[in-house]
Amino acid sequence: MEKLAVCCINRKGGVGKTTASIIMAQTAAERGMRVLCVDVDDQKNFFDAMDLVRDKYNFKIKPEIKDRLDKGDADLDFDLFVIDCPVALDQVTEEAISFADIVLVPTLGDLFSISNLPVVYDFAVAQGKYPAQVAVIKNSFGTTRTVKDIEQILSNKQYPIAGRWPRNEHIINNIIEGRPWWSGMDARQRQPFLTFYSKVWTAWKRLLADDLETTWKMA
Ligand SMILES: Nc1ncnc2c1ncn2[C@@H]1O[C@H](COP(=O)(O)OP(=O)(O)OP(=O)(O)O)[C@@H](O)[C@H]1O
Ligand SMILES: [Mg+2]
Repeated sequence: MEKLAVCCINRKGGVGKTTASIIMAQTAAERGMRVLCVDVDDQKNFFDAMDLVRDKYNFKIKPEIKDRLDKGDADLDFDLFVIDCPVALDQVTEEAISFADIVLVPTLGDLFSISNLPVVYDFAVAQGKYPAQVAVIKNSFGTTRTVKDIEQILSNKQYPIAGRWPRNEHIINNIIEGRPWWSGMDARQRQPFLTFYSKVWTAWKRLLADDLETTWKMA
């Protein structure tokens, strides 16, 4: 499989950008891929979280994308690049989007979170991405009436959807305590997060085949 670079962005804070970065990076590393983690957020949450599981997996951490992560560079011979962005649409985010093949935009299931999405989309498209390269992660989406309304709005807007995650308390504790994100979760609990992971790789395969119509459709 062709190497893939993803970045996680939003101009809203606390929506799951770093969590999405961790899920992508740890799942790929667990499957034997060589992963390069790039944390361009000054908070360095992604860096710290990955550092905690560093002895378990085959990955490298870089603080910036500045030294040009040319994908052909021998020292940077990785299968997956994951770039975690700060809560901003600034120059650093611009650079990350330009570099990424797929832009992931986690959002929570409330009106303020989704009202922000058109701006984020336009920003990514302005950096030269096709709309099919930019996908939303519905994060902490339960079954409340509000969430159903929000899902209807998202569906009307036809945003590609990379995943639908429930809230899961294991994830918070695992990350903070240096365990892989899935630790202590049964197969059913892991499933929405693993489906997201697979969907990203399937989308990448389809993008490589110029399939912009069904990029994010379930197989
Ligand atoms: N699906 C989930 N279930 C439970 N907790 C979650 C979930 N997604 C994110 N969280 C928790 O919510 C908090 C915020 O998530 P995260 O740090 O990934 O957001 P962020 O968008 O990167 O925030 P920031 O804007 O500060 O960078 C973290 O404590 C994280 O563990
Ligand atoms: Mg973050």
